[in-house]
Amino acid sequence: MVATGASFFPQPELLTERSVMHQCFANHLHSAHDCHSVSNPEQIRVTHVKLNLLADFDNEQLSGIATLRLERAADCPQGAPLVLDTKGLEVSEVTYIGPHVSSCPAPFHFGRPDPILGTPLIIKLPEDALEVIIQYKTTKDSQAIQWLPKTESREKFLFTQSQAILARTWIPLQDSPGVRITYEAVIEAPAGFTALMSAEQKPTGRPNLFRFSMPHSIPPYLLALAVGKLAFAKLGKRTGVWAEPHVLKKAAAEFHDMEKMLEALEKLVGPYPWGRWDALILPASFPFGGMENPCLTFVTPTLLAGDRSLVAVMVHELAHAKAGNEVTNATAADFYLNEGWTVYLERRLLEILYGRERAAMESVLGREALLAELKKLPPSDQILHIDLSGRDPDDGMTDVPYEKGYLFLLTLEKAFGRRVFDRFMRSYFQHFSFQSITTAQFEEYLHEHLLANNELAAAKINVHQWLYEPGLPKHSQLHSKSFVEVSRAARSFKSSKQTSTLTSMDSKDWSTHAWLRFLGALEGASAKQMELLDSKFHFSETGNSEILHQWLMMAVRCGYEAARPVLEEFLATVGRRKFVLPLFEEMVKTEDGKKDARALFERFQSSYHPIVQRDVAALLAKEETLQD
Ligand code: BES
Ligand code: ZN
Repeated sequence: MVATGASFFPQPELLTERSVMHQCFANHLHSAHDCHSVSNPEQIRVTHVKLNLLADFDNEQLSGIATLRLERAADCPQGAPLVLDTKGLEVSEVTYIGPHVSSCPAPFHFGRPDPILGTPLIIKLPEDALEVIIQYKTTKDSQAIQWLPKTESREKFLFTQSQAILARTWIPLQDSPGVRITYEAVIEAPAGFTALMSAEQKPTGRPNLFRFSMPHSIPPYLLALAVGKLAFAKLGKRTGVWAEPHVLKKAAAEFHDMEKMLEALEKLVGPYPWGRWDALILPASFPFGGMENPCLTFVTPTLLAGDRSLVAVMVHELAHAKAGNEVTNATAADFYLNEGWTVYLERRLLEILYGRERAAMESVLGREALLAELKKLPPSDQILHIDLSGRDPDDGMTDVPYEKGYLFLLTLEKAFGRRVFDRFMRSYFQHFSFQSITTAQFEEYLHEHLLANNELAAAKINVHQWLYEPGLPKHSQLHSKSFVEVSRAARSFKSSKQTSTLTSMDSKDWSTHAWLRFLGALEGASAKQMELLDSKFHFSETGNSEILHQWLMMAVRCGYEAARPVLEEFLATVGRRKFVLPLFEEMVKTEDGKKDARALFERFQSSYHPIVQRDVAALLAKEETLQD
């Protein structure tokens, strides 16, 4: 590395460059302060990230270099340092590149750590610094990453999960959804392994070296990496599935419709800008159903039901291509703009692809989940535009942004009619394309481009109540005709408690959703009733993860011991948070259950992703304090 001895003082040539930067910054004027980042993009902004990383499985460490391109605001105070978000990173060296220097040491230090936000990395730079080069390593505290060791049944694997604020645990950057970046990366993987990222793949000519490029600006939570022994199956022109060889065939069959889904999305909201749309099937410890990493959706293998009945998650992640990846929430308070719009698009797409009844069933189940959750949440957490300052943004991942957000948009659609609403929706996505927006921007656009055009329709909707008040405002009704019969069957079984009611039940054509509704209506079933149900329908043996999860929730609730081995097997192999956390929550409701939960967590925790470990541990710790 060459230090040319450049000074920390501004150079005259910089003036022209600064005026260009000023123009760029005009685009960011709207951006709100993000209380979940300690970085300073309003002074110096990271616009592009270059990664050169080695995936070292032996030491369970990513190590290498992050090069960040910078833009300085015209009004940036003299001497202001660059501040980045980091959490659990070791930094060994920082240098910068300026117009006259190719690599010059930059003094740096860490600020005060915060348990949620991490540790600011403060770098002193001359005013003409163009790029900063950071040599760093991840550590055991890099919570985004799960390193899976080789076992008898599987190869080693690594994957990241950056949303909501975990990108900073594997890359030093300005980790706010309002700070959009383009990126490129070179990843070195062990021989025989494939590295994949949320970007376009580029050739390298070397078998274990992988190169990627993301030419569109993305929020940092969409940075993603996976390394494993992976195979690919092509599905359509722009679609395909990556998976470990033993699940590839099943995955390709399950997600057979991906190309059709992509076409439906384009018909509904316009061009898909991300080039390819592939899916990566993660190991079962993947903490979510799906994650909308651009070009490459990450999904849990628990979607592989064998009958395509759980593909709504895939449709959901595709819908994020517009709602979230193209038009992004600027802060955690605006998260419902991502998820509410995505659920709305998801259900519109399900309707196009699989018919109205399928979409209706998903919507009804979603509303039931929302109503149940609203009963448990404090009023301040029932608000769409939620205040999460001082808290982990993950606390906002409830049914509120998803299902209340959906009902808000559905209510607008019904009031204005589909034709008008669809026009508004398309123009909204186009207008804010590749921007991260706040609720204020959304509201302004909504008023100007929808509400103002039809006062009669607008008068039916109290937008302020929807966005800023707890509870569920008057909304458009949902109805699924297949659920009528299912609910009747559940009621009659509940009241008669007889096997004979089950024998006369005509359930041979019931869909997964019908079964979920049926079990949902049997809350409070006794162990005796569970036994009857199991002997007739064999729920404990189902290969459908959603049905099994619901069944196991009921089993824990009533102490149905016959399902115990299945529960243990499930908790030992599946790390999806939506399944694991509620099961532990259900267990800790009784004194014996608490002991049991602690013992099971002790046994299985090492197989969970760090954020699931964190959340279950927090639940158990809370129970301990309550006991004291
Ligand atoms: N982007 C989310 C997952 C997420 C949200 C991760 C917030 C971390 C913080 C993803 O699109 C999602 O919503 N997944 C859902 C599936 C969906 C069908 C509701 C999931 O994983 O359950
Ligand atoms: Zn989502």
